[in-house]
This record gives sequence, C-alpha cells and structure tokens, in this order.
Amino acid sequence: MYLTKDEEALLRGEEGEAKRLAMEILVALGDIYGAERMVKVDSVHISGTSYTSCGDAGIHFLSRLVRSGAKLAVPSTLNPVSIPLNRWRELGFPERLAAKQLEILSLYKLMGAAGGYTCHPYLVGNVPRYGSHISWAESSAIVYANSMLGARTNREGGIGALASALVGLTPLYGYHLAENRRATVKVEVEAELIDALDYSLLGYAIGELIIDGVPLIAGLPSQAGLDELKAMGASMATSGSIALFHALNLTPEAGLMKDEGLPKLTIDSSMLKQVREKLSSNGGLTVDCVALGCPHLSLSELKRIASFLEGRKVKEGVRLWLFTSEGIKRLGEEAGYVDIIEAAGGRILTGGCVVHTPLEEIGVEVLATNSAKAAHYCLSLHEVKVCIGSLKECLEAALTGRWVY
Ligand code: F3S
Repeated sequence: MYLTKDEEALLRGEEGEAKRLAMEILVALGDIYGAERMVKVDSVHISGTSYTSCGDAGIHFLSRLVRSGAKLAVPSTLNPVSIPLNRWRELGFPERLAAKQLEILSLYKLMGAAGGYTCHPYLVGNVPRYGSHISWAESSAIVYANSMLGARTNREGGIGALASALVGLTPLYGYHLAENRRATVKVEVEAELIDALDYSLLGYAIGELIIDGVPLIAGLPSQAGLDELKAMGASMATSGSIALFHALNLTPEAGLMKDEGLPKLTIDSSMLKQVREKLSSNGGLTVDCVALGCPHLSLSELKRIASFLEGRKVKEGVRLWLFTSEGIKRLGEEAGYVDIIEAAGGRILTGGCVVHTPLEEIGVEVLATNSAKAAHYCLSLHEVKVCIGSLKECLEAALTGRWVY
C-alpha cells in the first residue's frame, strides 16, 4: 500500500519501537484487505482490556510497549474489564484476578489512555462526528458509531485499535469507504416492539439471518431511541458480524440508501419468540443474579430501574448487578437514581462486564438478563443457566428470586 514519507519513517522505527510495531500491524492489515493508503483517525476505542480476554500474554505485550516509551497519539477510551472497578472487593471478586486487571489498566494509563472502561464510549466523551474516520474495537460500540453516529470504522480487534491509537492511523478500506456502507439487504420488521428486550431479540434474529452485510431496516417505531437501538445493534453484532445498519427515519445515512434490487427479509414476532426460547432456560428456576447493562446502562435506563425499585427490596441472596460507566453513574447520583437503587439492594457496578465476570468463582448459578448478547456469551463461556426477559421481568425476578416466564 502507498505510504507517505512520514508513515514510511514510522515504519522504519524513526519514532520508536512502539510506533514501528503499530505501523507493521496496520500495514499488514491494509495489505490483507487491499487498502490503497492510510487515513488519519480522530478517535480510538480499545477492547481486549480485560484480563480474562488478554491474559498474561497481554500484560507482557503492554509492558513491552510501555518500556519502549509508547504514548497514544489520539484520544482513546477503553472497554470494560473483568472486575467492577468500584466494588470488586466488596462483591468477593478474586484478589489475584483484580491484581492482574489493575496492572493492565495501569499500563494503559502510562501510555495515556483516557480510561472510560465502558462499551458506551459515545456517552462519556468519546463522541465521533458524522463522517469521521475512527478505529474502534468492541462490536456493540462499533455498530453504534457506524450506524447511529455515521462515523466510519471497521470491526477492529483490540490489537488493531491499539496500533491505531499509537500512530493515529488506520488502513483505508471496508466501512471507511462510502461504497461499502451501502445497504445489502432490506429487512421489513413486522414484529411488535415494546421493550428494549424486543429490540435485542430483533437484532439477534437479523444477525443470525444476515451474518455479514449491511441491513436497511424498515418498520421500526419512530420512538425507537438510544436504548432500543443500542440493544438491537449489540445483538446483531453478536449473532452475526454486522458492523453497520441503516434504519429508515432513524439513522443518519438511511435516507441515502436505495432499496431497489435489494434482497428482502421479513421478521415477525414468532421469530423473536424463537430467539428468546433459544437463549433462555424455562421458567420455575431460582435466580441468584440479575445482570443488566450489556451494553452498559444509559442514564435513562438507570432512571427506569430506579422508578421500578423505589420503595421495594431486592430479595435476600439475589444479586442485582447494574453495569455502567463511572460517568453515567455520576449523573445518576446527581439525579438521585443511584440512592434509590442502592437502597433497594441493587448494586451499580462501574467498569465491569457481565460476560467477563468470573461467574462460577463467585457462585452464580442462574443468571437473568434482558440482553441477548449477555445471554449468548454467558451460555457459551460460562457454566450457568440463563434466563432472558424484559427489564420489568428481570427486576421482578430480583425482588422474588424466581423466574416464572
Ligand atoms: Fe459491554 Fe461486556 Fe456486554 S463489553 S456489550 S457489557 S459483553
């Protein structure tokens, strides 16, 4: 691929070993995918930050970068990690895991990462503008940035995003180019969509059917907002590898799409029911953990949870864990939501991720969630039973300890 003189100098190592390594990775990626050149990125979001995903090899790699004097060249936020940073000790997370996790975060800090520890960086200050080139990892954040914000990123892995952060560049291919952002299939939604769970199931069904491609979605209610589309996109990127969707009248590039000649799919309520049955255990179980916030909860979701829990009590022995970012938690504190939730026995966990939580080690056997993504990964990565339901069903399970749906 074509490199400018400055990029060639980076590749020769004239600005240090870390940048040389980053360029080597990006040039290799560009060659694989046929990029003609590099493009500057405005923002980066790095995944693979949890010890459970990067392990000791990750610590070794990051230490090597830090020793070579690596500094990030563009504002870069980090994905959630294996422990809730605000209360891992209180909740009995293993000390050894916490020590390793904190070591990883301190290495990122030494390189100048902005932290965040969230999968909704777009709610806490890392907000790319329409049309800007970015290099984001974390599938739920990628699909949100591409679809809802109209920024341009490929489905980066943690290493690719880190390399971009070090030099401020990414190879120009894939979703960075307008021609690859065109819709490839039209999806007509004929299902009733009420709760964010319905959107989560819908996204999962779309991902399963399309696998890869760019859906143009018609038939979503006009009131579908951040919470609903965040849930839908995350699921789409879980059952499929979708990085971009267009939703008529809801997303910024949808109006530019032409649907003539596109293959068509229809999704109805029976298909959402099938997804729910596939991801959920039957009723009659005793639930010991209700986990909400995959992707991390927004302020409006915290408000809805607080309204439901006000004056009620979570059943003794049931954990109600609400995953979000420190930034959103602070807003929730100001608004009084956090006090209500904590008084009811719920726990706001910042920086953690239900999927990367060592559920077995801390004694979780039956987990309830309203997220198809959390259900999918908890079923495949953990030895736990999973129940999936609406926000209200999950909160009722937290109050009673029973899953009856
Ligand atoms: Fe976020 Fe973890 Fe879910 S990164 S989207 S809470 S799997």
